[in-house]
Amino acid sequence: MAEPLQATTERTAVPAFDLVIFGANGDLAMRKLFVALAARDREGVLPPESRIIGVVRQKAQLKTLPETIAARLHESGFDKDEIKRFMGRIVVAETDATKLETYEALKHALGKAERVRAFYLSTPPDLFIPIVENLGKSGLAVGDARVIIEKPIGRDLTSARAINDALAKVFTEKRTYRIDHYLGKETVQNLMVMRFANTLFERSLSSRDVDHVQITAAETVGLESRAGYYDGVGALRDMIQNHVMQLLCLFAMEPPNTLDAEAVRDEKLRVLKALKPIAGGEVQRQTVRGQYSAGSIDGKPVRGYTEELGRASNTETFVALRCEIENWRWAGVPFYLRTGKRLAARYSEIDVTFKQVPFSIFRSADGHDPLQPDRLIIRLQPNEGVQFQMMMKVPGSGRLKLVPRMLDLRYAEAFNERTPDAYERLLTDVIRGDQTLFMSRHEVEAAWRFVDPILDAWRQASDVLPRYAAGSFGPSHAFGLIERDGRSWVDPDLPA
Ligand code: BG6
Repeated sequence: MAEPLQATTERTAVPAFDLVIFGANGDLAMRKLFVALAARDREGVLPPESRIIGVVRQKAQLKTLPETIAARLHESGFDKDEIKRFMGRIVVAETDATKLETYEALKHALGKAERVRAFYLSTPPDLFIPIVENLGKSGLAVGDARVIIEKPIGRDLTSARAINDALAKVFTEKRTYRIDHYLGKETVQNLMVMRFANTLFERSLSSRDVDHVQITAAETVGLESRAGYYDGVGALRDMIQNHVMQLLCLFAMEPPNTLDAEAVRDEKLRVLKALKPIAGGEVQRQTVRGQYSAGSIDGKPVRGYTEELGRASNTETFVALRCEIENWRWAGVPFYLRTGKRLAARYSEIDVTFKQVPFSIFRSADGHDPLQPDRLIIRLQPNEGVQFQMMMKVPGSGRLKLVPRMLDLRYAEAFNERTPDAYERLLTDVIRGDQTLFMSRHEVEAAWRFVDPILDAWRQASDVLPRYAAGSFGPSHAFGLIERDGRSWVDPDLPA
């Protein structure tokens, strides 16, 4: 069989680098960052002289950090040689992020090497500003040094601006990388390819043919060990303001004229700016929040949110909202966004329901019409793939019978490739200097501008936060939100 034609966009080699990780002992670094870097090292992508400098606060950690990293890599399936090679890149520096005088140790570790320098602030967000200020004062943010931060970037527009302003004093926007790890997911990157490398769907993805769009990011996990971060933050800030709104942007944006970061980010920003605000009395009508109570998932009993937390809380763990994009392409098409913890299944997908045909010739004499609308289902995780539901004739010579059937493209069957973790791509993109998959300051702030009035209205609302049983699909109001428009949530395609 002939080799398939490959369309590739040019990727430059990764230059030699020093990547400094603040919070090297933390959850994100241990769960994701070191494993992702080691995976890239295994592929031979990291230049030999590149180093990863883990910042720790206590002397004792100078020794324990490398041991912990090596154990973590072992757990993740790396072999002895791979671990040994990767550990050869690890340097540990004892620096207290908030104490300028301790940055000498980091300075010493970095030396004078002429390499791309990047600082990953894998720390609680209240350390972002002090670290950036100290990097500036200590003279470490030299040349084209970059900074990487991850959400939450603020709790609202004002605090996000304060972080962005502090970053801007030390790093230009071109040297600032704001991670939304959803943008590093393979299937999310494929959204742009699906839309702009194919004629068929792109033409139909507009108010001309689309009835409505649903974007769901459902999780089965609960609070886990993240109470310190999550309580008081909630699902709107944790998932909608960033991941779900980024999906919305990629799905709804106009074709950028190049794949350059600026072109792509400008188009995404236009979507955010075109969102019809939901404020005041509209918040009650267009949004639903909820918090999980005890229930069961996969047949196992699970505790409610406040029981896990050990105290009362008004933090929402579920949000559904209906929004509209006020531009030529999408005017009048409702977008229903939904996310929640401790739901019945873990899946993220974009479901597009097309309009019915203008006139059905298949209607029977008694008025019954067998036609169901076409549906495009873009499954982002798990069971990544794309499905298209269309009407088909059931084979047979008797009465004409129509049923909906799926065209079903599964990544696992279509490609024989390993799906890399989002961070593998994102970390080397920083070193290469490619900002396409990172959020700009304007995007982050525009997303807060949309979210803030909803938070304000919720804060002022006197109603009790609705509960939903863990293992369900959210509070009953969420069904009401879409059903009052004569529509319903698409049931997920759960594995049998
Ligand atoms: C994080 C949120 O950004 O994304 C978590 O803080 C959430 O609350 C996670 O669980 C979901 O990511 P993924 O990749 O598992 O869909």
